[in-house]
Amino acid sequence: MKDLLKLKTSISEEIENILNEQVKIEGHASALYLAMSAWCDDQGLDNAASFFAKQSDEERTHMLKIFNYISNRGGRSISPEITNVPVDFDSFRGVFEQTLEQEMFVTEQFNKIAEKCFKVKDFVTFNFIQWFLAEQVEEEYVARRILELFDVIGEEGTGRWEIDRHLVKVTFDGE
Ligand code: FEO
Repeated sequence: MKDLLKLKTSISEEIENILNEQVKIEGHASALYLAMSAWCDDQGLDNAASFFAKQSDEERTHMLKIFNYISNRGGRSISPEITNVPVDFDSFRGVFEQTLEQEMFVTEQFNKIAEKCFKVKDFVTFNFIQWFLAEQVEEEYVARRILELFDVIGEEGTGRWEIDRHLVKVTFDGE
């Protein structure tokens, strides 16, 4: 039964592969943010620790969204092996610089997926990834605004504590 359904609904191998790559990227992002959460917690940066724990949850949700989409289209989803998750980070600011780099990388990946969708004329998948492209605008925005706090407040004295206190107030309203 499943095979008959697959004949009607399959996605191309190319799209299946690039989506499974993205599943792995989102899974790695989830593990990375959890590691950042633990590091911030260890540094006494409680709000940053909560911020990254939430980010980690969101990335897992992203991973599952794509994972389920592949299956729902009759493809084969792959539960990814997650390796190279750091334990230590150089600095508070460095953690957010790495976050911005990570999100810019993800945006680039989704642009590549969009390009591939056009190439193979898979407009259903193109439509599916619109949510992720919009999400990337928010994720990059928040990382950039938090990085600005480091410039505006500075880390000297009680600066780190102030940054930690303010970063949870950074939100994206889309305007
Ligand atoms: Fe799922 Fe932050 O990209």
